[in-house]
Amino acid sequence: MSDQVLQEARSFEELEEKKISQEDRPVYHLTPRVGWMNDPNGFSYYKGEYHLFYQYNPYGQNWGPMHWGHAVSKDLFNWKYLPVILAPDEAYDYAGCFSGSAITLEDQSHLLMYTGVAKEKDERGVERDIQTQCIAVGDGTNYTKYEHNPVIDRRMLPEGASISDFRDPHIFKAKDGRYKSIVANRGADGYGCLLLFRSDDGFKWEFEKELVKNVNGYCGMMWECPDYFELDGKKVIVLSPQEMEAKNLEFHNGNGTVFMICDQKENDDFDVDTMHAIDYGIDFYAPQTIETPDGRRVMIGWMQNWDGCVYRKNNCLWYGQMTSPRELHIENNRIYQLPIREIEVLRSDKVEYKDVVLEGEVSLEGIEGRVADIELELEPISLDNIYKEFEMKIASNGKNYIDFSYRPSEGIAKIDRKYSGSRNGIVHQRRCELDSKGGKLKARILLDKYSAEFFLNDGEKAMTVTFYTEQSAKDIIFKADGAKINITKYTLKK
Ligand code: FRU
Repeated sequence: MSDQVLQEARSFEELEEKKISQEDRPVYHLTPRVGWMNDPNGFSYYKGEYHLFYQYNPYGQNWGPMHWGHAVSKDLFNWKYLPVILAPDEAYDYAGCFSGSAITLEDQSHLLMYTGVAKEKDERGVERDIQTQCIAVGDGTNYTKYEHNPVIDRRMLPEGASISDFRDPHIFKAKDGRYKSIVANRGADGYGCLLLFRSDDGFKWEFEKELVKNVNGYCGMMWECPDYFELDGKKVIVLSPQEMEAKNLEFHNGNGTVFMICDQKENDDFDVDTMHAIDYGIDFYAPQTIETPDGRRVMIGWMQNWDGCVYRKNNCLWYGQMTSPRELHIENNRIYQLPIREIEVLRSDKVEYKDVVLEGEVSLEGIEGRVADIELELEPISLDNIYKEFEMKIASNGKNYIDFSYRPSEGIAKIDRKYSGSRNGIVHQRRCELDSKGGKLKARILLDKYSAEFFLNDGEKAMTVTFYTEQSAKDIIFKADGAKINITKYTLKK
């Protein structure tokens, strides 16, 4: 097939992006070149640059015909758009080039493995998706779809596996030197599972085994977007389950994201040892990770979630953002996450306060703004009389604001955007549990024009939220009944 569909998308994005001013975009979070963005795809380090592809509909601000958009960066903050690289233009992917991953082959070419979606009528005449795994190979700029696509299809599936819910391949190189791919699937019971495939050359694939199963639906229904890595002596699977039920404050309803941790073993079995949420805020989904050249495990997620997509900036030609990149490590059998150190080069205008007493509301000269990196340490004034609640309003103009609060006696942190100016009847508030530590709390907060990412107690828990409050709302206000804070704030600039 000719590459007409791809060329049309390229001309379209080149023309349309001129209508979006830099002012209208976040300062350091990646947005689509034009139109709609969802999952990060093919996140990888290739030929001296980080490559981040993304689920992309250039033609509108809603989910639609899925392409792969493309951006590259040397530091994961300054991104340069490259032309869209995959368009839905083949018999096996005309209904969408869905999520997938990337790897460098021995001959130094860059291989992308993605899900091709086509349509077919079932026995009752009802149209359904046919999802298969496909390959495109390239040099970091141009990619060619493999002539023998799809490389993994229904003929390789174990009995009972779904041909319609079969997507988001995560490709990696195993210890034995073979290529492996973990692909999400839905079993005959309706629950998700992860299937493992193997290949000697990255092109010819065979089924190996079922890796993990959502037994009796203990974790949502269908699973999406698996990622896999080894870190600090453990094996980790990252997953985005659909249709989750709430469980305490650990899991919320709907689309969630989880880490599954397994003690490392020589073989590649995966026995889930522990499982917890990745981000306890509102806007986080479908993350992918990479290993940086200096050995750090870094994660980027889609900084939205499906049920909240109605809340958006008016008259805006882009929709969807990626989170800031987060470095991961394991402590107490949990994943901790903090912003990567590369963000420090964006910092300027340091403002610092020590031992500020909070008895009621306080605002501090120089502590304001919508694009900032903030470090906060909080403790009670007196251990015999611990404050009941600490509150921090950000992006405030008095009427509109986003509220972060912490109640040590309950050990609960809360993020609340209901007064951010939203007019949508969706989730605006989320809570998470924190060890009360006698009223001590540490927070690192990354603000950008349309988002806040909270990293609590050295990254033990993260809470991410997007909002579209007027940019003139930039006050930051603290409040407590007997607490003390140290605060350092930097403006972030590019
Ligand atoms: C997750 C997801 C993936 C799929 C893609 C389609 O957000 O549903 O499972 O590949 O989005 O855009």
